[in-house]
Amino acid sequence: MTEAILLVGGKGTRLRPLTVHTPKPMVPAAGVPFLTHQLARARAAGIEHIVLATSYLAEVFEPYFGDGSSLGLHLEYVTEREPLGTGGAIRNVASRLHSAPGDPVLIFNGDILTGLDIAALVDTHRTSGADVSLHLTRVEDPRAFGLVPTDDTGRVTAFLEKPQTPEEIVTDQINAGAYVFNRSVIDTIPAGRPVSVERETFPGLLADGAHLQGMVDSTYWLDLGTPQAFVRGSADLVLGRAPSPAVPGRCGDRLVLETADVATDAKLTGGTVVGPRTVIGAGARIDGSAVLEGAVIEPGAQIHDSLIGAGARIGARTVLDGAVIGDGARIGADNELRGGIRIWCDADIPAGSVRFSSDQ
Ligand code: GTP
Repeated sequence: MTEAILLVGGKGTRLRPLTVHTPKPMVPAAGVPFLTHQLARARAAGIEHIVLATSYLAEVFEPYFGDGSSLGLHLEYVTEREPLGTGGAIRNVASRLHSAPGDPVLIFNGDILTGLDIAALVDTHRTSGADVSLHLTRVEDPRAFGLVPTDDTGRVTAFLEKPQTPEEIVTDQINAGAYVFNRSVIDTIPAGRPVSVERETFPGLLADGAHLQGMVDSTYWLDLGTPQAFVRGSADLVLGRAPSPAVPGRCGDRLVLETADVATDAKLTGGTVVGPRTVIGAGARIDGSAVLEGAVIEPGAQIHDSLIGAGARIGARTVLDGAVIGDGARIGADNELRGGIRIWCDADIPAGSVRFSSDQ
C-alpha cells in the first residue's frame, strides 16, 4: 500500500498559548495527542510507512510515538534545520520514501480532522492519471480560504488566493489539506529552501500544464488551527461526530480518562473530555470543553466551549465561555472570561478581578 508524509512542523501561531510548549499535532484532542487520530486513521486505510516532517519543537514526537509499532506503523522522523514551509518539508523527506517514480505518495497536513475516504482519493488519483490529486471540501464562507475551482471532470483549473470581493468567489471548493503526489513530482520541488506547496508548487505545476485532479468529499472536515476549532474538533471526536479509531473510550456526551477525579454532582456534557489526573470539583458544569492533564476545576465553576491547559487551575464559581487557558495558569474564584480570550501559560488572575457583566 501507499506510504505517507505527515506535515507536523508548523509553529501553530493561531493556537497560542496552547502551542507555546507543545507543537499543534501533540495538543491532546479527545484525550490523546491530535496526531494519534491521524495516524490511526491512516493505518486503518492500509498505510504502513509514514514519514513525519518536523520542525517546531521537533524533539517531542519521537519519544511519544517511537517507531510507530504500537500503532502498527513504521514511523520515521525528519527534522528541518530551518523551517522549509509545506512544500520544502515534503521535498526534504523525499530520500526516506520507498516509492518508485510513478507511485502515489499521500501527504497530509497535521492539523486537519476529517472523515476523508483515503482509499477513494488514491483511487481517484489512479483512474484520472493525475500528477497530483487534492482533497477538496466545500465551505459556507470561502472568504478565509484559497479557492480551488475544477472543471466538470474534476480537473483543477486554478488556484485562487483568498477572495476579496463577491465576484472573486467563483467556487465554494477549498484545499482540504490532503494530497496524492506521484513520487516523481515530489522530486521536482526545489531542495534546501522554503517552498509553500499551496502558493508556489501547485500554481507552478498548473502553469506548466501538469494534471491536478480535485476530489470533492463532503464528509466531516475541520481545520484545527484556531482554539475555537480545536475545542470543537475535540468535542466532535468525543461525541463520535468525527471518526477516529484512537478515541480512548466509548464515544458519548463525555470522556473521562481513567485517573481523573470527578465529583459525583459535576456535570460534563457536549463532548467534554477531562484528561488524566484532573480534579473536577462539586457542582462544576463543563460543556463542549477539553480539560487537559492535571488541571483543577474548583467547585461551581461553569465552563463552556473552552480549553484548559495542562496543570491550570480554575477557581470556584468562575465562568469561562470560549476561553483558552494556557498550561499552568491560575484563574482565581469568581472571574468571568469570555469570547476568545487567551490567558497565557503560568499567568495568575486574582479572584474576582475580571467580569463581563455588571453584577456582583
Ligand atoms: P499557524 O502558524 O497558526 O498558521 O499554523 P501552522 O504553522 O501549522 O501553519 P499551517 O496551518 O499553514 O500549516 C499547515 C500544515 O503544514 C500544518 O500541519 C503544519 O504543521 C505544517 N507546516 C507548516 N509549515 C511547516 C514547515 O515549515 N515545516 C514543516 N515540516 N511543516 C510545516
